[in-house]
Amino acid sequence: MAFNIDIIKALYSQLAGKVEAARKITGKPLTLSEKILYSHLSSEETPRAFSRGKDYVDFAPDRIACQDATAQMALLQFMQAGKAQVAVPTTVHCDHLIQAKLGADKDLQAALNSSNEVFNFLESVSRKYGIGFWKPGAGIIHQVVLENYAFPGGMMIGTDSHTVNAGGLGMVAIGVGGADAVDVMVGMPWELKFPKLIGVKLTGKLSGWSSPKDVILKVAGILTAKGGTDAIVEYFGEGAASMSCTGKGTICNMGAEIGATTSTFGYDDSMERYLRATGRDDVADAANEVREHLNGDPEVYANPEQYFDQVIEIDLNTLLPHLNGPFTPDLATPVGEMTEKATKNDWPLDVEWGLIGSCTNSSYEDLSRAASVAKQAIEKGLKTKAEFGINPGSEQVRFTAERDGLLQVFEDLDATIFTNACGPCIGQWARAGAEDKKKNTIVHSFNRNFAKRADGNPNTHAFVGSPELVAAVAIAGRLDFNPITDTLTNDKGEQVKFEEPTGLELPPLGFDVEDAGYLEPDADGSGIAINVKEDSERLQLLESFSPWDGKNISGAKLLIKAYGKCTTDHISMAGPWLRFRGHLDNIANNTLIGGVNAFNMETNSVKSQITGEYGAVPDTQRAYKAVGIPTVIIGDHNYGEGSSREHAAMQPRHLGVSVVMVKSFARIHETNLKKQGVLALTFANSDDYDKIQEDDTFNFTDLADFAPQKQITIELVHSDGSKDTILGNHTYNEAQIEWFKAGSALNLIKLKNK
Ligand code: F3S
Repeated sequence: MAFNIDIIKALYSQLAGKVEAARKITGKPLTLSEKILYSHLSSEETPRAFSRGKDYVDFAPDRIACQDATAQMALLQFMQAGKAQVAVPTTVHCDHLIQAKLGADKDLQAALNSSNEVFNFLESVSRKYGIGFWKPGAGIIHQVVLENYAFPGGMMIGTDSHTVNAGGLGMVAIGVGGADAVDVMVGMPWELKFPKLIGVKLTGKLSGWSSPKDVILKVAGILTAKGGTDAIVEYFGEGAASMSCTGKGTICNMGAEIGATTSTFGYDDSMERYLRATGRDDVADAANEVREHLNGDPEVYANPEQYFDQVIEIDLNTLLPHLNGPFTPDLATPVGEMTEKATKNDWPLDVEWGLIGSCTNSSYEDLSRAASVAKQAIEKGLKTKAEFGINPGSEQVRFTAERDGLLQVFEDLDATIFTNACGPCIGQWARAGAEDKKKNTIVHSFNRNFAKRADGNPNTHAFVGSPELVAAVAIAGRLDFNPITDTLTNDKGEQVKFEEPTGLELPPLGFDVEDAGYLEPDADGSGIAINVKEDSERLQLLESFSPWDGKNISGAKLLIKAYGKCTTDHISMAGPWLRFRGHLDNIANNTLIGGVNAFNMETNSVKSQITGEYGAVPDTQRAYKAVGIPTVIIGDHNYGEGSSREHAAMQPRHLGVSVVMVKSFARIHETNLKKQGVLALTFANSDDYDKIQEDDTFNFTDLADFAPQKQITIELVHSDGSKDTILGNHTYNEAQIEWFKAGSALNLIKLKNK
């Protein structure tokens, strides 16, 4: 089930008919996004003109990808469903559990030693249930998917928020929680709110130091971290066609940083070149036959304002290189403005590390452009001021880059070549001295730069840029180095200046690899036993959550009122906690330890209404659970932004939290809460957030009448006996209310399978 050209051909053979039918239904020309969405409606869905941003629609994705950290919980859930094989081509990729410390070989061996139990579990479950397995060291999920599985006009879901990367090859690819993936693995439709559409018209052509990364850094600055919420961003125009396929992947990848459902590009020559270079002539030939249906209709792009909900135009001719950060990827600064901004904000100007890699920027082209800068440094007699770390995106990229001498250039600059894996991007970085919590600056070509993400140090100021800019800034050792205008002093005391970076879209000698690291599933896996040890600290078989008793929730206490940004990293931290991703009870010990308590502005310090004492969030919650007191989490805007990990929903559920009520949710997290049977509400009046006090008791007085579009009334009883009544909104439809009643979506699947 790993890859099948027949599935692609079958999809393409029906494409013209489905697109024409969708034009008739909607009465208008179609964007590419609409063509893909309408051609992937589930057979159980009734085609009609869906209302963007409102209607929940059932889809039938073509494939699924899971990374090792999220796959554990997804597969533990799938195993409960009682199926013999996955219903849709699925792959598992081991990339998150490998720490960057000493360099590729040693680090990979260390990961195999420390996480063997988890890798073996994933491998045996994959072999048993028909899932393609990519071993540790094979590469980062999204680079491997782009190289092997993504195809124009396809729809995929993945248990990682940067699944959206596959939009670079013309897919609608969406990051989901493991519970959503399980739905599709068992052959059920996958539900999504029909997205709004944002069009980004790219005019002109990139040149010099500007790169595809700068397009998305600029877009992030315009739209902000939540500007893409519930929307697909569709790129078009001459500028889009002029960029490489992997460059398009970079842009789509960081669509996750603006909260977009996904991003995509129309099929063009760059995609054809990439398909052929990665050994997929059959896909390119098939796509060429339906090329017009793998792009939006020309009328749409001629009058985008008429057909998109929002349109942005970016002139690539004038686009400057950017560095975004610190602490948020939407704080965009063009290189020439950094001195003033950094000085004003007291950002450390000395750069200590430059990291190149992550799923965002680890293609052959990325490495070649960064290497062209590194090579110049050596030739011009410059020494790098900052340290360098490189994570190639896949073994195919690494092997080819090594063969072509690119890695040697970095090594000549004393760079450490880490494993083909996520490494520092997911906090898997044994950075020497990070525990001192010293204020410092790093630059990287990743996508996320939340506090503590890379090295666990809250005072590390991380800035995101293109690989070539990261290389230049790291060599200069100054955050405000502008390679377009500035010079550096070389070993002879001369002033030298970088030439513009150059790169190769694809390797001139073709890609090559000895062992890509792929394991095909068994033709018949029925005899494979999956063993999870009783006393394992890494893996734990799941038990079903209890169904709802149908009654109002009364006497609930406040667990935490989270202040400000509360991402999935704050709710379920990564880094050292990644090792417990397959063990719900153990990982629950990190629940919300990164969330800021609005009453004392401290992390992991909340008041227990049982004892009146302050304690850690998980301990306090376990004490409530032990005596059967329901609890409520209160949050601010865009609660749960960041990754798709359903742990951020399963952990509170496992610990006994009944309700999460916030000003607004990030899409994936809201769905995850619903799937796990937690009541997910938003304040009808966001000012009511201010009415919540530390010792409040919550009574949900009409929950027993839970129904779509019906507000829920909450009585707040304050410690002085006074009361407030507030209203909660929700987005549950009939089917989702059934999840809540059953205790979780998985409980419902099990009931149906019986
Ligand atoms: Fe891995 Fe970072 Fe991408 S964690 S999947 S490299 S966002």
